[in-house]
Amino acid sequence: MVRYRILQFINAITIRHAPPLPNEAVLLLSQKELALFQRMSAFDRHHSLTVYLELASRRPNSVHLLKAALLHDVGKGRPSVLHRTILVLAKALIPQHLTSWNRYSRHGFRGQIYSLSQHANESASFLYLAGSHKRVIELVSHQETPFDADSRLLAEVDSRC
Ligand SMILES: [Fe+2]
Ligand SMILES: [Fe+2]
Repeated sequence: MVRYRILQFINAITIRHAPPLPNEAVLLLSQKELALFQRMSAFDRHHSLTVYLELASRRPNSVHLLKAALLHDVGKGRPSVLHRTILVLAKALIPQHLTSWNRYSRHGFRGQIYSLSQHANESASFLYLAGSHKRVIELVSHQETPFDADSRLLAEVDSRC
């Protein structure tokens, strides 16, 4: 896990461009969903595409799962490497403090880290406003609290990509 996080950190620093979405992925998304995908950082677009490609190879006909793979992180905004790193460290070392940071303003550093930790809900809210299918929203909102086979598969692949 430590090795994975170090590699992820190096990726976050070095990725400036994500490869374009393959046509079959573009065709899965509505215009609004595609706009949400495109507004993510290059790091998150690259990560989401990697999750999508692995799930597409294993479950090519699971349309809702594949859409969730592409869109599960649209609520992250565009966090800096520092914010991503602090979140990883806070989750591992001081999870109880992280929970209490909900009292801080989203304009301050701790409030921003808390907000990033809640990106599953933020992503689901964006997708609700974009008119996404309720199953896609359900999978996205449970990306860190999987409850069935599809959501467990998404969480497992997400944690490795
Ligand atoms: Fe996520
Ligand atoms: Fe993710």
